[in-house]
Amino acid sequence: MPKVSVLVVEDERLIARDIQNSLEKLGYRVPATAATGEDAVKLAGEKSPDLVLMDITLKGNMDGVDAAAAIHSKFDIPVIFLTAHADKATVERAKISEPYGYLLKPFEERELQICIEIAVYKHRMEQKIRNVERWFSTMFKSIGDGVISTDKNGIIRFMNPMAEALTGWESKEALGMDLMKVFRIETPSASQSPENLIRRAAEEGLVVDLSYDSRLIRKDDTQVPIGDSIAPIRDIDDNVMGVVIVFRDTSREKRIGAIYERLQKMSAMGQLAASMAHELNNPLTVIMGFAQSALKKAQSGVDFSVVFQTIDREANRCKRLVQELLTFSRTEKTEMASCNLNEIIESTLQLLEPRAKMSEIEICLDLDRSIPEMTAIRDQVQQVIFNLSHNAMDAMLKGGQLIIRTCLKSNGQVNVQIEVEDTGKGIPTEVQANVFEPFFTTKEMGKGTGLGLTICKEIIQRHNGTIKFASKAEKGTTFTVKFPVQAAVP
Ligand SMILES: Nc1ncnc2c1ncn2[C@@H]1O[C@H](COP(=O)(O)OP(=O)(O)OP(=O)(O)O)[C@@H](O)[C@H]1O
Ligand SMILES: [Mg+2]
Repeated sequence: MPKVSVLVVEDERLIARDIQNSLEKLGYRVPATAATGEDAVKLAGEKSPDLVLMDITLKGNMDGVDAAAAIHSKFDIPVIFLTAHADKATVERAKISEPYGYLLKPFEERELQICIEIAVYKHRMEQKIRNVERWFSTMFKSIGDGVISTDKNGIIRFMNPMAEALTGWESKEALGMDLMKVFRIETPSASQSPENLIRRAAEEGLVVDLSYDSRLIRKDDTQVPIGDSIAPIRDIDDNVMGVVIVFRDTSREKRIGAIYERLQKMSAMGQLAASMAHELNNPLTVIMGFAQSALKKAQSGVDFSVVFQTIDREANRCKRLVQELLTFSRTEKTEMASCNLNEIIESTLQLLEPRAKMSEIEICLDLDRSIPEMTAIRDQVQQVIFNLSHNAMDAMLKGGQLIIRTCLKSNGQVNVQIEVEDTGKGIPTEVQANVFEPFFTTKEMGKGTGLGLTICKEIIQRHNGTIKFASKAEKGTTFTVKFPVQAAVP
């Protein structure tokens, strides 16, 4: 360790020499001594000592207090004052230069040593803290997410440039303001209001996430969709000192998510096309045959009402199929509305019936007719049922049973539960952990995008529901989905 160097500032030469001797005896280095304030500032700049021992009363224009202030602000070198008379006015003046200690003359060598050690230690610690602060501040300034932190009263204490860009508020105007004025959020549910979430984060010390559909209302009243979390900031004793909000613009993610959802749906529909074509072909053949027979009967004057009834029935079958396909393929509506889960299941299965027939799959419905209507985005619930049933059928290439059950399940909140069970090949244990990952598929090229279950999970989470499954090799798989009856209703 290099010796600690101490610049001595003392206008009485004999005392200065005395102090220098004591310091050197104690193991310190004295690079220079100064007799005036001006000299002290100059030598501090030239010698960069670790510490300055400064007599308060110096001859000349600049006394010790002024010199210490200049040294502290210019070079960030800690100063210890030496004084024979510590009168109140001088101490008050001296305080401004943030001294690291006082020594009353005359002093013992031991006192001198303790004072220097404390001052050097304190200064090093302060430098470390400043570096850590600088490090954190630079890090928060450069990250791509918005960061706002508050004290325990919800007053903004920090805001990074991304938070400025997202909220439209400049840090200098927002600091000291109430968080609720700057971070205005519109959420689909009252329990998800920022006031509530921030209170929960602060009072219960929890990290909470804002709901999927949250929108930030910017300073100019425009809105931007955001995803974020709110976490408590704790002091060393674990008391909550405030909260930190980390948030990001999710418009791009949402657009990409919507594209993926659409792509996956299109791909699944593509796979349905063959069975659909087959299913349409049958009634069309009947229609054409009966139309020809009607033509012949018309020429011979026979009653042919039966023929027209058959044509009408078969044409209606075609129409229904085409209608289901159109409904399923339309661009999704994304509003939450009241809908009937059993009805959604029945209409989805109409779509899958042709395929079930082709693969010799028996569809068994066990629907609880007493379940209440649920608040949900209908098209998205349909996509979940479609994806799960489609996967089930893919697992039963040699035929089997697809069983769909619904019931009411309450555990604190009221849920509707759907089970999609198959008697297929099961999900191998080694891939069970991966099935919800985007693009994970065991199907051959062109058969699956590997997005079906990812999208199911995303949709279900959006509705604050849950999805899980149980599977056994060669026995089959059951997916169990729960949707809250009141999914995030305002
Ligand atoms: N009921 C099931 N039985 C057996 N395996 C299944 C079942 N459901 C899902 N899997 C497995 O999970 C994988 C991922 O399913 P996911 O629905 O996400 O994608 P995919 O069906 O392969 O493709 P996509 O649904 O995008 O057309 C499947 O490839 C399959 O291996
Ligand atoms: Mg799938």
